[in-house]
This record gives sequence, C-alpha cells and structure tokens, in this order.
Amino acid sequence: MSAAVSTAITPSIHRQRLRRLLLSCLCLALLQPWTSALAASPAPVAAASGMVVSAHRLASEAGVEVLRRGGNAVDAAIAVAYALAVTYPAAGNLGGGGFMTVQLADGRRDFIDFREQAPQAASADMYLDASGEPLPGRSTEGWLAVAVPGTVAGLELARERFGSRPRSELLAPAIRLAREGFALDQGDVDMLATATAAFRRDPASAAIFLHDGQPWQAGERLLQSDLARTLERIASEGGAGFYHGPVAAALVAASQAGHGILAQTDLDHYQARERKPVECDYRGYHVVSAPPPSSGGTILCEMLNVLQGYPLAALGWHSAQGVHFQIEAMRHAYVDRNNFLGDPDFVANPVARLLSPEYAARVRNAIDPAHAADSHALRAGEAPHEGSNTTHFSVIDRDGNAVALTYTLNNWFGAHVTATGTGVLMNDEMDDFAVKPGAPNLYGLVQSATNAIAPGKRPLSSMTPTIVSRDGQPVLVLGTPGGSMITTSVLQVMLNVIDYGMTVQEAVDAPRFHQQWLPPTTRLEPFALSADSRRLLEAMGQQFSNGAPANHVAAILVGGPALDRPGPPGMRYFGANDPRHGTGAALGY
Ligand code: DON
Repeated sequence: MSAAVSTAITPSIHRQRLRRLLLSCLCLALLQPWTSALAASPAPVAAASGMVVSAHRLASEAGVEVLRRGGNAVDAAIAVAYALAVTYPAAGNLGGGGFMTVQLADGRRDFIDFREQAPQAASADMYLDASGEPLPGRSTEGWLAVAVPGTVAGLELARERFGSRPRSELLAPAIRLAREGFALDQGDVDMLATATAAFRRDPASAAIFLHDGQPWQAGERLLQSDLARTLERIASEGGAGFYHGPVAAALVAASQAGHGILAQTDLDHYQARERKPVECDYRGYHVVSAPPPSSGGTILCEMLNVLQGYPLAALGWHSAQGVHFQIEAMRHAYVDRNNFLGDPDFVANPVARLLSPEYAARVRNAIDPAHAADSHALRAGEAPHEGSNTTHFSVIDRDGNAVALTYTLNNWFGAHVTATGTGVLMNDEMDDFAVKPGAPNLYGLVQSATNAIAPGKRPLSSMTPTIVSRDGQPVLVLGTPGGSMITTSVLQVMLNVIDYGMTVQEAVDAPRFHQQWLPPTTRLEPFALSADSRRLLEAMGQQFSNGAPANHVAAILVGGPALDRPGPPGMRYFGANDPRHGTGAALGY
C-alpha cells in the first residue's frame, strides 16, 4: 500500500468546510482558553524527589527504596521490573519481553528493545493445519506459543548502559518477595483467579499459583522459592544465569516435554537491542516513544501530527466534533500500523514518511469533518489481535532521569506454562505475529505479511512507553497495557493533559474510547460520551460498541498536578495510577 492509499478518498470539497470550522473554533478558543475536566478525581500523589507508578504496590515500594538510596531511575526501573515478576505474575515477568524508553537528565534519549523473538525452528505456517487454516489455541497456549524471552537480557543491558548500583542490590527486593513471600490482597487474588483453569492444566504452574489445587485467598502468603533461586542466579551471574546453565536447561527441557521448539541455541543468541526512539513534536512538547518492532511510537506520533491541525481544546473535551477528529486520526493510523510495520531487521518500516508533516496534512485532507470514513474503503488489511495483559510502569528520579517501561507475557500469565524448578512463567508472544497473513485469523482479523513469522523475527507490538518533554525537560512519563488499545490510551491521556488542562489523575481516570480501523466501530468506555454527543456522532456515520478498554495507565507529571499549575510547596512529581484495576500504586519520596 502506498502513502496515497489512505488519502485516496480525499473529499477535497470538505476543505472549505474544515476551514470554516477551524475559524469558528478559533473564536471559541478566545472565549474559553481551556476546558476543565472531571472534578471528582482525587489529587495525584505528590512527591519532592522521585516517583514510581507501577501495577503493584510492593513493586512501586521496591523502586522508591532504590531511589531513596541514591539509585537513579534506571536502577529503580530494574528493581521494579524484577519485583513485578514476583508480585504481578500475570504480566510482570522473566519469561517475556518488552521495551524501555529512557530520557536522561542530560538530554540523552535511548530505547531498549527486549522484545521476544521467534525460535530458529519457527516457520510461517507453524500454527496452520494441513489445509492451511489456523489451529485454535496453538499460538496462545502451551510451549509451542512461546517466543524466546528477552526481559533478563533487556534489564541487564539497561543496567550496563545506565545503571549505577550493583545488580545484587537491584534484585534484592524481588528475591526477598519471592523467598519470604507476600500477603495476597484482594486485587492479587482476583488476578490469579482469572487463570485457575489454565493453571490446573500445567502442574508446574499449579504448584505455585494454586494452593493445594484451589485458588489462593486474600491474606494468604504466596511463596515462590524456585523463582527466588532463579533470581539469585541472575543476581550473581547476570544474563548468563538465565540464558545458560540450569535455568536455561530447565526451560529447554520443559519446552521439549511440552512439544515446544525453544532450543538452547535460541537462548544463546538472544540479544536485547538499543534502538533510536521515535520522536515528534506536539503543540510545543517533544515526544519520545517506541520505534519498530513496536508500532506504538510511530502511530502515536502519526495521530498527534494529524490532530495538531485541529483546535481540540476549543472544541472541548469529548465534544462530538473533537471525538470525531480523534476517531478518524486513529482509524487512519491503524491502517498504516497494520499494513506497513514489522520487525525492522526483516521489513522496511516507512517511519519517516508516515511522520512527515506532508503525510499528516494528507491524512487531514482525507478526513471529512462531518462524516466517518468507511474503514473497508480505506483498505482491507490486518488488524491486531492482542490480549490485554501487559504491564507498564513509569519512574523519575531526583535528577530528572525518566524511564517508561512496558513489558509483557502477552496474555494474562502468558502461555500458562512454567518450567519446572525455575518458577518462570512463559510468554505466548508468538501470537502477536500474523499467524496466517492475508486471511482472517482466529479473531476474524486479517494480518499482512510484514508481520509474518520467521526464525529470529520479533512480532509487531503496540506497546508505547512514552516520555514527553518541554524545553528538554521531561514533563510527562507514561504508558499502559491493553494490546491494540495501548496507543490510543496513551494518546488520550496526553491530549487530556496538553489540550484539555486536566490534572494527571483526571487525565488517567477520564473515560476513553478506541478505534483501530477494523472493526469499523469505535469502542466506548461507560460514560465516555454524553447521549447528545453520541447522537451527533452517529449522525456523522460513527458507529459504537461497548467494549471497555480496561487499560492500566501509569503516568507521572512533572512540575504540578496539571501543566502550568503549581503543586504544594516543594513538590515536583505527581503520580497517577489507573483506578481501572485493583492493584498498583503511585509512590514517591
Ligand atoms: O506487544 C503487544 O502489543 C502485546 N503483546 C501487548 C499485550 C498487552 O498489552 C496485553 N495487555 N494488557
């Protein structure tokens, strides 16, 4: 597909209408400089010297402890990631992968890609039956679904590049939590209960995540002594403690016993990679985010470039017209995501072209301000089919070093298999590939060959760990889980802060919507639209469904609870944990 495709339907007759609309919005803007938001949100958590927002309180505590002792944001992020592997096993992991966006106080920016990759024995048709149809469950359950894990290599690379504290110190909280256990609260128990049936099918998982075959109860203590031993090995040997020796041997043996294809040679050759982040500017703010093999930063910037041309603040938060422009920007960005992007070691990603101002102008030209586009007419192609179980955390330290880290097992508790003796739950990231390019997948979606399976290839991701700065200083650090809904959630939290003047907590709490090209309907969270806005949008041809994008945003705003709004004296950092899930905490010091 060429860049012209998504603009081929350009209804040039709408340009004049758009110009009139922009003029009237400009007048509105003079009367109403910014739109205030949800008065009911609590204030964000304020701190003077450092902040961690993660999906588990004990992991946030581990990060703050590292910061207090003088560790930097990368040190703290490593401690949080290892702690989440113990306290948040649905998504925190050693057996998965992810991405870390880093912005240092001296202005350096970096991106660490520790995405899983396909084993050498993988093949494009490995999940198809003899007649070429996808075999249900093969890419999501069990050892055949497992891609080569990247987390330990990624955290080690981050520590070598930017860390300041010894490895053993950063792993100590995780080792303690695994060895001594921690008391499960209701949020933990609810999370574990989502996978009871799957744990029962895998004795090694059941031995840990069930209590004598039954779900754990709140107040009981979860001990993970095998995982503690694995973490101790990593603490003393680094990556070699995971990718070689007894842990690696146990992973390979379990894979073989479970009819998987993970081999020692895959573990020997896995490397985390430093990549150049995707960057763009939006209304005076600079955005640093995830490059391929994630689609996140590219389509975030594409949507921002398009939306920059509309007076969103003047239109008002969740006004029908403002929502229409956002939905259409999402629709166009996801056409591009699903056709153009993949592992940069295997396919060419036209990032520069997608992010050029000319391209944004062409997309805007293609957006009819009064009518929804027909997704099918834009172009048939793929849409992502991801689970919604990842985790993101944001960290900032006293010097202003910032880290946004999203990592995942893909589905809740990954492929639901644990290597006996290691305590390591494995990912099902192979399912992020196009299992059968060009044909509807298990979810009725169609994916392109840019994201086909190949040995050593990394599947296309939506994870969008993002850092926004102004005049070189970080102002917003954020990200979320949520599969294909990740990038639109990050976008909306950014718009809520930058365009609509919300506090960071209001911005995270506010109801969201999601459009991903196919299906053509836009998913709404409850209360996302007033009845009359919805009617206006439906009259423009927008269609809605009620799938709630229950993401879990973790965001930090610097300088005040909202942009250009001072906080309590001495307080610099303002953290917001998403209330949509029962776990997580913004903690500072
Ligand atoms: O990389 C991806 O885009 C997916 N594997 C992420 C899955 C996810 O976010 C599930 N989250 N809640």
